[in-house]
Amino acid sequence: MKQVLSDPERSKINTVNDEAFYDSPRFVTHADDGFIDRLTDTYGSVLSTGDSVFDAMSSWVSHLPEKNYERVVAHGLNEAELTENEDADESFCQNLNEDRSLPLKDGSFDAVLCALSVQYLQYPGSVFSEFGRVLEDDGVLVVSFTNRMFPRKAVRAWRETDMAGRKDIVRSYCCAGGIEVERVIEDRPETDPFVAVIAHPKI
Ligand SMILES: C[S@@+](CC[C@H](N)C(=O)[O-])C[C@H]1O[C@@H](n2cnc3c(N)ncnc32)[C@H](O)[C@@H]1O
Repeated sequence: MKQVLSDPERSKINTVNDEAFYDSPRFVTHADDGFIDRLTDTYGSVLSTGDSVFDAMSSWVSHLPEKNYERVVAHGLNEAELTENEDADESFCQNLNEDRSLPLKDGSFDAVLCALSVQYLQYPGSVFSEFGRVLEDDGVLVVSFTNRMFPRKAVRAWRETDMAGRKDIVRSYCCAGGIEVERVIEDRPETDPFVAVIAHPKI
């Protein structure tokens, strides 16, 4: 599996184990209200009633619009946050920088979501390949980000570039995982800028 990032590019300033960093729950949002509203609208445009949704790298909120979903699975690193996630029917904790194999069946989701978190992945090629594996052939991946981050926990490649570079980074992760980018939505450059990469498994 091509990992996209070299060893220096995947390095983090804070090398403490990620589980220890996320040990205490943070019941906050990681972007401003305008960003979150834009994200929920974007999800609303690609999700349908009856969908099965996997929210990767989640917390106490998944930002989903109200719909009657078949199943929502949230993954993250803090159990207390995930327990409070009212969108989620199920949840599990797993450090994706240690174990990149998702305990989820092939083709079992209509949508995989990854909000405000992709900058923390050190082995994105494997993780995006897993996103593709668990998606249905006509499923959708939505990766969203802004310019905020925990800088000491973001990979160096992310820290050392700008928003345009970050779009290219996410494109390269999709490519490595066998996922084709359909479009990139960009909005709100003056506040917490909104970027969402919308992609689908290559078939
Ligand atoms: C800034 S929060 C974003 C949470 C949520 N997606 C949201 O929109 O509020 C970053 C999240 O990335 C996840 N994360 C960070 N490092 C991780 C790792 N090594 N393995 C799995 N998840 C990780 C944690 O679940 C953490 O809550």
